[in-house]
Formats: sequence, C-alpha cells, structure tokens
Amino acid sequence: MSGYDEVYRQSIEQPEAFWAEAALGIEWDVAPATVTGDGRWFPDGRLNTCHNAVDRHVAAGHGGQAALIYDSPVTGTVRTVTYAELRDEVAKTAGMLRDLGVEAGDTVVVYMPMVPEAVVAMLACARLGAVHSVVFGGFAARELAVRIDHAEPKVVLSASCGIEPARVVAYKPLLDAALAAAAHRPARCVILQRPQLEAELVPGRDLDWAQAVRAAEPAGCVSVAATDPLYILYTSGTTGLPKGVVRDNGGHAVALHWSMRNVYGAAPGEVYWAASDVGWVVGHSYIVYAPLLAGCTTVLYEGKPVGTPDPGAFWRVVATHGVRTLFTAPTAIRAIKKEDPSGLFAKKWDLSGLRYLFLAGERLDPDTYHWASSLLGIPVIDHWWQTETGWPIAADCVGIEFLPLKPGSPTKAVPGWDVRVLDPDGRECPPGVEGAVTVKLPLPPGALPTLYRDEARFARSYLERYPGHYLTGDGGHVDADGYLYVMGRIDDVINVAGHRLSTGSMEEVIASHPDVAECAVIGVADELKGQLPVGFVVLKAGAARDPADIERELTALVREHVGPVAAFRRAVVVDRLPKTRSGKILRATMRDIADGKPYTTPSTIEDPAALPEIARAVEGP
Ligand code: COA
Ligand code: AMP
Repeated sequence: MSGYDEVYRQSIEQPEAFWAEAALGIEWDVAPATVTGDGRWFPDGRLNTCHNAVDRHVAAGHGGQAALIYDSPVTGTVRTVTYAELRDEVAKTAGMLRDLGVEAGDTVVVYMPMVPEAVVAMLACARLGAVHSVVFGGFAARELAVRIDHAEPKVVLSASCGIEPARVVAYKPLLDAALAAAAHRPARCVILQRPQLEAELVPGRDLDWAQAVRAAEPAGCVSVAATDPLYILYTSGTTGLPKGVVRDNGGHAVALHWSMRNVYGAAPGEVYWAASDVGWVVGHSYIVYAPLLAGCTTVLYEGKPVGTPDPGAFWRVVATHGVRTLFTAPTAIRAIKKEDPSGLFAKKWDLSGLRYLFLAGERLDPDTYHWASSLLGIPVIDHWWQTETGWPIAADCVGIEFLPLKPGSPTKAVPGWDVRVLDPDGRECPPGVEGAVTVKLPLPPGALPTLYRDEARFARSYLERYPGHYLTGDGGHVDADGYLYVMGRIDDVINVAGHRLSTGSMEEVIASHPDVAECAVIGVADELKGQLPVGFVVLKAGAARDPADIERELTALVREHVGPVAAFRRAVVVDRLPKTRSGKILRATMRDIADGKPYTTPSTIEDPAALPEIARAVEGP
C-alpha cells in the first residue's frame, strides 16, 4: 500500500485516474465513461444514491445488519433499524412523496428533530431523485421561511416537536409561522406526530406522517444523472440571505464512500457515530450518507454531551453500541471536560473498542486535544472542512497512513484538495506566514458545483477573489513540515458551539428594533462555545432607554427570529460604531478589542474615539 505522500501526489497529478478508480466503489446504472467535463464530475454517469446507501447492501446479503441505531436519552428510546427494514421504510416513504406529486428534480424541505424518520425522509427524496433541503431544528420561523421561499418545496416534511433537555420544542407552530411569512406555498406538509406533544393539523394542507406512509405503495429507485442535485443545504454567508450549497449525486457518492475507508479508516460492518445533527453538513455527510454508502452502522443520537443525563452520555453510547469511530465538535468535548474534568464518567464505561476520535466544526484547541487524548488514549484527530466542501479538506487520513499529530493542526491536505495559502496579491505564503486558505481548482468530487439559483453569487463568493482558486473564507498557514493550521474565518461568519451563523442575519433582526439606529454583531471568544455573538447598538436620537431593557428585548428578538441556537445574550449600547471614513464598520478591530487582543487604530478611521468606547463597553460597568 502506498503512503500518504504518494496517494496525495497521484490525486493532484492524475485526478481523473484517481477518481475513476474511486468511482468503482459505487454501483452505477450507467458507468461514467468520462471522469470530468465542463467542470463537473462523471458527467455521463447515472446512479441512484439511495440504492447505493441502502438497497445494494440488502442485495449483497447484508439486510439483517444494523443500518442505524437510534439512541435517544431524551425520550428513553434505543431502536435498531436493519438495512432491510430501512429499505422498506424508505421505499414506503418515497411512495408517499410520489403520491403527493414529488418527482425527480422537485425540492422537499425537511424540518425535523433527530429521529429515524429524518434520515428516512432524506433517503426517500434521494430514492425519487428529488432534492431535499434540511433545515436545522434550532432555527426559528423566519430562517425557515427564508429557506422555504428560496427552495420552493413541493412538500414540507416535519414533526410535531423536538426534545431539548429542559423543554419540548413545538415545531409545528414554528412551521406554521414560517409558512405564514413565506410567499411560497408548498402543496402539502406531512407531520410526524410524536407522543411527547401532538400537533394540530391544518385540514387540506397537513397530513399525518404515519397514516400517509401506511397508505403508500413502495417506490423504487429512480436513476438520475451523476450531475443532478441530491440536496441543497443552506449555510450562513456574510449577508442575511443564506447560501444554498448544492450537492450532486455522483461526485458526492464517490467522494464520501472513498472518505470512509481512507480518511476515517472505517470498514463495512463497523459502528460509526457522528454526534452532530442532520441539519448540518456533518449530519448529512457522516450521520446519513457516508456511513450508509460504506455499509457501516450509523448512530443517530438525540441528546447532548452533558445533561442527558450526565457527562458520561457519549461514553455510554460508545460502549453500549460498540462505536469504533466517534466524530463530534470540540465544543462537545469542552462541555464534557467542564462537568467531568477528571474523566470519572468515562472510566465507568468500557471504551476499549473506540479507535479514533475525530473532531471538526471549529478549530480543536490544544487544551481540549491534550485532555481528550490523555482521557481516551487513542488518536484525537482534528480535521477541517465546510458545508461547501461536503467532506474533509485537511485531516490525518488514518486509512492511508497515520501521520504524527500536531496539536492545533488538522494535519495535511486530504487527497484531492490542492490547498494553497495565499497573500493578498495571490502569491503563495512561505511557511509560517498567515494568509487566505484556498484550494487550487479543480475541486474534487463531492464539493459544491454551485449555489442553488445563484451562479453569480457562487462566482462572487468563492472564485473571483483569487482566480483559479476556491476561497474557503478561512485564514491560516502551513508549517515547514507541510502541516496546515486553520485559525479562523476572515469574513463575518461566526462559529457558536460548532454551529455556523451569520452575524449579518442577527444584525438584520436587531436593526428591526424600533429604537435601534445601527448595529454591529461580532463573534467574541468563549471558553465553552468557541465564540459567542455580541451586539453593539447605537440607539436612535431621543430614545432614552435603559440599556438593560434594550439587551433583554434584543435577546428575545434574536431568539425569536434567528433561533435559540444563536445563543445571543449580550447587546451593548454605544454612542457610535467605529467606522472607516467610507462608512465600513471596523469589525476586525472590534473583535480584537472584545477578545482583549492588542489592536492598532486604522488610519482610515472616521472617529478614533469610537474604539476606546468599544473597549469600555466590553469591560462593562
Ligand atoms: N431544536 C430546537 N432548539 C435547539 C435545537 C434543536 N434542534 N438545538 C439546539 N437548540 C437550542 C437549545 O435548546 C438551546 O436553547 P436554550 O437557549 O433555551 O438553552 C440553544 O438552542 C443553544 O443550543 P446548543 O448550541 O445545543 O447549546 P447548549 O448550551 O444547549 O449546549 C453544547 C452546549 C456544547 C453541549 C452543545 O452546543 C453541543 O452539543 N454542541 C455540539 C455541536 C455540534 O454537534 N455541532 C455540529 C457540527 S459537528
Ligand atoms: P460549516 O460550514 O458549518 O461546517 O462551518 C465551516 C467552518 O467551520 C469553516 O469554514 C471553519 O471556519 C470552521 N471549521 C470547521 N472545522 C474546523 C477545523 N477543524 N479547524 C478550524 N476551523 C474549522
């Protein structure tokens, strides 16, 4: 077997041969004769992603193997679904969608908690060649409405409620409010009634999930072009309007299947657990598609790292289900560490089957790395990627060659990704020098081909800044050994507890408050969540309001319109915002001040007194 350097070189120098070989891991209805054409992967291939993730394993005699283990401490449920059972449930659910008029190419919005039906819904869409767009349950009605209006779904699939440790979250009123606010009208909503809180159905529009599925005939897999879309996943950009990242069928199946063995070292039949949510890309790729494409058993966990019921929750799941690979966000490990610093809860469980802990979603800080490494005594692997890329750009590819880990670094570029760190003039930065992290084109299979209905924004956001390169939006550097260090976003996207959020969408909501003249939201370093949003607001002249009341009102407003997941709790009233003479808010400088870092006063500043005012406001009374 070749080592990392050799595999990486092949993938960059001969991408067509490399990915043609990887494509052999997928069952095609029409095998691709062409590997790339017009910037797309496998343009003449045809396949069905659901067939590859589900039916093919049943056909190969693995129908009795567990496909999915649903472990839900918040409802006290553990349920195993075999590949054969999954196929039957997906086929019936696809039949229901077909009865509702859903055809290949139609969009379906999925707004659901972490229940098996959410996975079934995604696969049922894939089975028909329909395009799902999953919206994370922690987003509020307004965010859902924006996505419904952009995706224009024929059908919305949802549930009566989600269950958070401290409360039952009624989803249906959020969906109703979103539909009332949206201009687009889906033909039908299908609602999964959960016993914890049943929802009222709107006659003529809403259907009961269980009844509708029971009445349906199973549907078969529809063959689609490799370049046809599998899903749209909205992610935060720098404006309030989210970006609809498009994923195709062929490149996605090939890349994800390849990644399971080569990046994660996972073999068919093993239990693989990504402790994330199906609403995020990690959930799409590594709860649903990749483990199933690879014939693994995936774990669907409806709970938290702490509080459900204790900081041993993850270790219980690992031990009882025989998890070999665990993937989560550093913030989850920090939450466990905070409540169980000595790791006493981990010691209660037999974790000897766990081979790797992979972390992503934000930078793995060295403290958390050291704590988890010494607790578990296994490799703790930071790896870096984004919604846009769909799978890791940089990782220690343990299935190829396990490279020595360096704390603070997600190791090296994954085969297929030609990572280059560039200076503002587009020249490659020497080792140790920070720049914009980019990927030299072409992007490998699985990466986004475009943004849904917005080719111009795709080009503007990712391709125009450095011609011939994809702009990741992250800053970082490479060291003398070729290890990459990703230090943080260079735009206005923030990362709260591994959740990617747009400060722009929070600013829009804050600006709608009647007493606010202008505002800026920035991400401030937080020990547990990585970053937390803080709003700086200037009140309208004459608005003599108590700052504490303003903070309370804005907190409620952001919670209501963006969602609780934004964790927005601090709003500081200031007399003015620091701006350049051309009116641009100096966010980077504000961030440095809020994080207590040294800062320089930019020469372009309009009013130098604005900066000390921010510093005073951050310090508080
Ligand atoms: N539906 C409805 N509400 C949700 C929700 C969902 N699916 N997910 C989160 N929320 C709510 C929470 O109830 C919480 O509300 P609150 O303000 O009333 O407490 C708020 O959104 C923030 O949630 P969360 O980010 O989960 O923070 P937390 O303080 O409850 O827990 C952690 C902190 C670190 C335990 C938690 O963030 C975590 O497990 N993070 C892992 C992140 C992750 O998996 N990221 C995916 C990328 S790999
Ligand atoms: P998302 O699209 O939600 O997956 O968020 C992607 C962003 O999260 C990236 O652009 C990074 O800013 C950040 N991120 C994810 N993983 C890492 C990592 N391992 N190291 C540093 N930043 C990360």
